Amino acid sequence: MQGTVLVIGSGVAGLTYALKVAEFARVILITKKEDTESNTNYAQGGIAAVMAPEDALEFHVRDTLVAGAGLCHRDAVEQMVREGPSLVRQLIEWGARFSLDAGAETPRLSLGREGGHSHHRIVHAQDLTGREVERTLITAVQNHPNIEVHEHHAALELITAERDGVREVLGVTALDRRNDRVQAVFADATLLATGGAGHVYLYTTNPSIATGDGVAIAHRAGARIANMEFIQFHPTTLYHPEARSFLISEAVRGDGGILKLRDGTPFMDAYHPMASLAPRDVVARAIDSELQRTGDDYVHLDVTHLSPEFTKSRFPNIYARCLELGIDITRDPIPVVPAAHYSCGGVLTDLEGRASLGRLYAVGEAACTGVHGANRLASNSLLEALVFADHAAADTRELLRQRRAPPESADDRTLEANDEVRRSREVSPPFVAQLRLLVQTLMWAHVGIVRSDRRLQQAQREVEILREAVESLFAASRVTVELMELRNITQVAWLIIECALRRKESRGLNFNSDHPERDDTHWVKDTIIE
Ligand code: FAD
Ligand code: SIN
Repeated sequence: MQGTVLVIGSGVAGLTYALKVAEFARVILITKKEDTESNTNYAQGGIAAVMAPEDALEFHVRDTLVAGAGLCHRDAVEQMVREGPSLVRQLIEWGARFSLDAGAETPRLSLGREGGHSHHRIVHAQDLTGREVERTLITAVQNHPNIEVHEHHAALELITAERDGVREVLGVTALDRRNDRVQAVFADATLLATGGAGHVYLYTTNPSIATGDGVAIAHRAGARIANMEFIQFHPTTLYHPEARSFLISEAVRGDGGILKLRDGTPFMDAYHPMASLAPRDVVARAIDSELQRTGDDYVHLDVTHLSPEFTKSRFPNIYARCLELGIDITRDPIPVVPAAHYSCGGVLTDLEGRASLGRLYAVGEAACTGVHGANRLASNSLLEALVFADHAAADTRELLRQRRAPPESADDRTLEANDEVRRSREVSPPFVAQLRLLVQTLMWAHVGIVRSDRRLQQAQREVEILREAVESLFAASRVTVELMELRNITQVAWLIIECALRRKESRGLNFNSDHPERDDTHWVKDTIIE
């Protein structure tokens, strides 16, 4: 074994990296809840990869660049598209069971289609792709002798030290939620794979773990953060009081679902030549605009014209969940609204997944690799995580080979986190929940699908006040997971607003009614926060 590597997060990014690094190092993996609880587990549509003879790498590259609205890094996109198919095959070798084409003479993958894709290229496991990916990876991790998994351990702060003018990461402080103890975990290299930040917003498709922890932690430690203004709103989340974050996959539109007003009129033709299958930013804005115009609370997604047998076998999870809620999607249109779904920005990395601090990597939704630009193409997220985890693992091997010992002592500042938990006073949980709701409501109302300078400035003023209040609470109280999530949500909210205020144009997911045009003269660049 060449050393110890710390992995924070047990979604596709953390698990894939862990499996690869465990071939040459001891791996300690910490994760905030149960090991399966991640955005990955809820992915429906699938993994975009060029697997069909009529498709080609250049088509996938082109579709990704078009969706990214001029801001993708071409080298990152080409790396992802080129290397993706073999990593999907590796997942299959590790045991993933993806849907096969029923009509084919020899077994071949069934390939779906989603918004912005010119070809069928979405590898899927019915409409439960994420669960299958997570199952495969968790099984392999649990069987690996070099990987220790610690559930219910929430990373609080990176431990850093400076050497020769470079700040390096030595590990993290982490809260064990079952006994409220904080411990320092030291490692030769650290991966942030903490996923997204959907819970910065009131309505989201994300499970509760998605509070932007990795981005906030990295920012506090001095890492560069990029492109946080590009929050993707998924156009079709179920509108139902009991299931407000249940996603109706874009694959439903890929297989013929049509967006309609409540009176049955299709409306997407007026917005884009690809109609209901236009890129997500276009569809979400179109729905938002129709809801404003009509005063309705939702629009409909209609699949009643498809054969009921097809709908039930292709989308068994969506069919069953809607039926439980009294909607038979083979007969009734599905009420849908947009909700916060994916963070295109994050911890800025290079092509090897290296962040701007020494010994720190970031992969998956917590990272900004340059692949997604101003808008992620559907089903490119799982693919990006597979490819960049592979690169980060190879780079980690090189780092450990150099056998350069980490600097000896950690900054006092970062270890102070240990003291904070010893404080006895706990902020009342309902108060923490109330503050969280305040931030989420503010972000939903002022920093949503359509923004303006005035609303962003107002949001910034309010978030700054909240941020100060939360920092004071955090400094004076016993640390709980809820309090640290509130702190991270507030900090990520600030980063989103700051990036959105800096970008004086509309591009991809960032639409500002005071700067409605795309400005290719001044703004073909990332928004970077030091
Ligand atoms: P995650 O899978 O979210 O994992 C993050 C991990 O970090 C979790 O284990 C979490 O508990 C842990 N964690 C977080 N904070 C801490 C902390 N402080 N300390 C310790 N651990 C922490 N993408 C696609 O490509 N195709 C799809 O079909 C698709 N469908 C989706 C459907 C839904 C409903 C959602 C929500 C997302 C979907 N996405 C899809 C997006 C995709 O699922 C995610 O972007 C991707 O799974 C992120 O993987 P990840 O490993 O980066 O993060
Ligand atoms: C979906 O199934 O619609 C989600 C796909 C994605 O987010 O990439």
